[in-house]
Amino acid sequence: MENIILTGDRPTGRLHLGHYLGSLKRRVELQNSGKYSKIFVEIADSQALTDNAHNPEKIRQNVIEVALDYLACGIDPTKSTIFVQSQVPELCELTFYYLDLVTLSRLQRNPTVKEEIKLRNFETSIPAGFLTYPVSQAADITAFDANIVPVGEDQLPMIEQTREIVRSFNSLYGETLVEPQALLPDNNTCSRLPGLDGKAKMSKSLGNCIYLSDEPEVIQKKVMSMFTDPGHLRVEDPGKVEGNPVFIYLDALCTDEHFKKYLPEYNNLDELKAHYERGGLGDVKIKRFLNSVIQEELAPIRARRKQYAQNISEVYKILQQGSDKARIVAAQKMKKVKKAIGINYFEDLDLINEHVQKYQSLNEEEGKKIK
Ligand code: TRP
Repeated sequence: MENIILTGDRPTGRLHLGHYLGSLKRRVELQNSGKYSKIFVEIADSQALTDNAHNPEKIRQNVIEVALDYLACGIDPTKSTIFVQSQVPELCELTFYYLDLVTLSRLQRNPTVKEEIKLRNFETSIPAGFLTYPVSQAADITAFDANIVPVGEDQLPMIEQTREIVRSFNSLYGETLVEPQALLPDNNTCSRLPGLDGKAKMSKSLGNCIYLSDEPEVIQKKVMSMFTDPGHLRVEDPGKVEGNPVFIYLDALCTDEHFKKYLPEYNNLDELKAHYERGGLGDVKIKRFLNSVIQEELAPIRARRKQYAQNISEVYKILQQGSDKARIVAAQKMKKVKKAIGINYFEDLDLINEHVQKYQSLNEEEGKKIK
């Protein structure tokens, strides 16, 4: 079987370290592994509108930011098709048919959507489009026959929902859609990076992010003011490593090489953690180390972003060409889907003939009666 990847992001702001570790870094590795025959990367603007209908300008401004972040991370438009969701209308068309295969109560059970509804204070009036965006995400994935979807942990309910729709479609209308699998980051800590403030998630709306485009001084300032163990007041005090975002970030990012380069008194993270737990290790020292590690990781990304930013019309062209290409693929799938459901009337000569004959004989009988 062909291995096809699809993944995407909502363009509601610039992308951050959580996106990078949770998904982007992996995407680039997969892209460069040569194991995948096709890779589609979607800027999900229509999905972003499901909770930003009152503020389309925000989405309009951020499509290019996300595109720059993609290119900066190493997504290569000659190997991956980067496209904009709204420019592939077949995705809306697919969504409309998939909506018939899910129930309202199933949609209301989606844990990620539930959490998002709470965060947005939508409890009393959920936009219908927002509640149903997992169905449109199923269209995103299946339109391209993607079998692999590299995502962070929070997206697992979407993949599960997609699989259910695929099974239900295939059993009703015959084998047509491909059942996808989520591909989580190797490193567990990367699946869901907490915010700088220690909150569960690094998120634009919580304002607790390190952006891929942040300048070095900004990153340093953010790292140095990170939340740590609130019980670790004096250097001598024993500190807690679990749930301490500074250590979680180190778990996600640092290698033994980093210790050799920036903190040679320790061989590895385990030694650093043990010292922190014993007491006698100050937060500032660990934060400085973390800052060096993050700076090293983000410097080449920032440099590449600046390079692409010098030629924005070229980046728009990349998006347009990617969207044209995606549209061709999605339109072919749409044709198969319509055929499977049986709503391909004008190409279905059997159906036309059947009806021609039916009415021929009806007309003949009618003729006989009149005689
Ligand atoms: N829901 C994803 C997010 O919020 C974005 C997305 C849209 C996506 N369509 C997708 C992810 C298809 C994977 C596959 O980040």
